[in-house]
Amino acid sequence: MPNGLEDDQGLIVVSNRLPVSLECSGGTCHSSPVSGGLVTALSPVLRENNGTWIGWAGAPDVEGVESALRLFSEETGYNLLQVGLTAEQIQDFYFGFTNQILWPLFHASQFECNFNPDYWRTYLDVNALFAFRTIESGEADDYIWVHDYHLMHVAKYMREAGDCRRTGFFLHIPFPSVDCFKRLPWRTELLQALLEYDQIGFQTLHDRRNFLQAISSLVPNVRVFGRGQVVYATVGSRTVKVGTFPISIDYKKFNETARSSVVRKHSQQVHKALPYPKIILGVDRLDYTKGIPKRLMAMHRLLTMYPELQGNVSLLQVVVPSRATIPMYARLKKEIECMVGQINGEFSVPGYVPIHYQYRNLTFDELLAYYRASSVALVTPLRDGMNLVAKEYCAANVERNGVLVLSEFAGAAAQLRNGAILVNPFDVEGVASAIHQAYTMDKKERLKRMDRMRESIRKNDIYKWVDSFFASALAK
Ligand code: G6P
Repeated sequence: MPNGLEDDQGLIVVSNRLPVSLECSGGTCHSSPVSGGLVTALSPVLRENNGTWIGWAGAPDVEGVESALRLFSEETGYNLLQVGLTAEQIQDFYFGFTNQILWPLFHASQFECNFNPDYWRTYLDVNALFAFRTIESGEADDYIWVHDYHLMHVAKYMREAGDCRRTGFFLHIPFPSVDCFKRLPWRTELLQALLEYDQIGFQTLHDRRNFLQAISSLVPNVRVFGRGQVVYATVGSRTVKVGTFPISIDYKKFNETARSSVVRKHSQQVHKALPYPKIILGVDRLDYTKGIPKRLMAMHRLLTMYPELQGNVSLLQVVVPSRATIPMYARLKKEIECMVGQINGEFSVPGYVPIHYQYRNLTFDELLAYYRASSVALVTPLRDGMNLVAKEYCAANVERNGVLVLSEFAGAAAQLRNGAILVNPFDVEGVASAIHQAYTMDKKERLKRMDRMRESIRKNDIYKWVDSFFASALAK
C-alpha cells in the first residue's frame, strides 16, 4: 500500500465535523458531500482500507441523521458514524471551549479567551463521547487518526477504557508559544492527554518547537530526543513520536481544473466585470485571525501612498461565512463592511470601485476563476496553521504570472518563502509597499517566483502529506 497501511488494516478517521452537510426537517435529512483537501485525500484511503469516519453532523442530534448517514456511506464507499450532541453540549463544547478558548489561545496572545470552567467540563464529556464511539467501531488492528484541537483527549479516554489500538493526532492550527499556552487553566491536563497519542503531528517546525517547549516545562519527567522530521518524547514507559507534516492541496486537481474551458471563460467574465489593469484577490473564512481589517487598511494606505494606482487596481475580497452566530464574528463582519464602505466612499469615481466585497460561499469553478483572473493574491493572516488559499492560488495560476503576498505568520510561509513576497501583516505600510512591489514586478521575475512555488506544491501535495504521516506512524 503506498499509504503505509497493511493490506487488510482498517482506518478510522475521527474529526469534529463529518465530511457531509445535512439539512434535516420533519425526520428526513438530505445529505450533500463536503469537499476539501482532507476529504479528497482521505476518502480513497478509507475506501481501500475498510474505513470509518467518525464525527459530528454539524447540528443537534435529530431523527433522520443516522439513516441519512447510512445512505450516504453507500455513496462514499466508507462508513460515516455520527457522535450525537445535544444543543447544550454544542454550546459549551463547540461555541464555548473550542471557539472561545482553544481557537484564540492557539492563534496568539493578542486574542481574548473566555476561560469558563463549564466549557472545560463539557469539552471532556464530548471528547469521552467521541472516544466511546471510536472504541465500539472497527477491528482490533485498525489505525485511529484523530484531527484537530476539538479532540485532544480522545486517545486518553480510549486508553483508560482499555483500547490499545495505535492512535495518531494532527493539529491543523498553530501551537502557541509556551508563555501564551501557560494562560490555559488546564494546561498540564491538556498536554498529558496529547501525550497519550502514539504520534502527534504539527504543521511547522515552529509549532512543534512550541509544543516541545510546553511539555518540557509543564509536564514532569518528559525527555525529548532525536532530530529531523520526527522526534521522540518519553513520559514514563511511553514513547511518543512528534513530527512535522505540513498539509497541502490536491495540486493536480487545482492545476487541471483551472485550465478547463469553463474556468477560463468564467475568468474572462471576471476581467470584463472588473476592467482594471490589475485585480488583487483576498479569499478568507470570516475570522479575526485572517487579518482582514488590517488588509483593508493596507489597501487604503496603498491608494494614498501611490495615488497613480487609483483606477488601476481593485481588491476583490471574498469573505466566506463562518461561525457567524458568535458575537465576535458578527462584530468583525460589521467592522469589515464599515471599512469597505469608507474606503469605497473615499476613492470611488464613476467606473472605478477600489474594493469589491462579497460575503458568500464560492463554487469550486468560481474560486478557480477568481484565482486565474487575479494578478496578486493577498494572504495576510495575523496567524494561521497553514493557509491553503496561498497554495491553491499558486496551483490555479496556470499563466504563472501572479504574485503571492504572504504573511510571515502563516504556516505556508515556511514552504513558499522561495517565491512569495513575505510581509508582517501588522505593518500596514509594509503591506502597502509589498502590494506596490507586486504591482510593478516585471514578468520574468513573476514567472520565476511562481514557478518555484508551483513546483514545491506539486512535489508536496496532499497525498504526500497523508503518506508521510502514515509512513512515520506505522514505522516500527
Ligand atoms: C479550521 C479548523 C477546522 C475547522 C474549520 C472551520 O480550518 O482547523 O478544524 O473545521 O476551521 O471551522 P468550523 O468551526 O466551522 O468547523
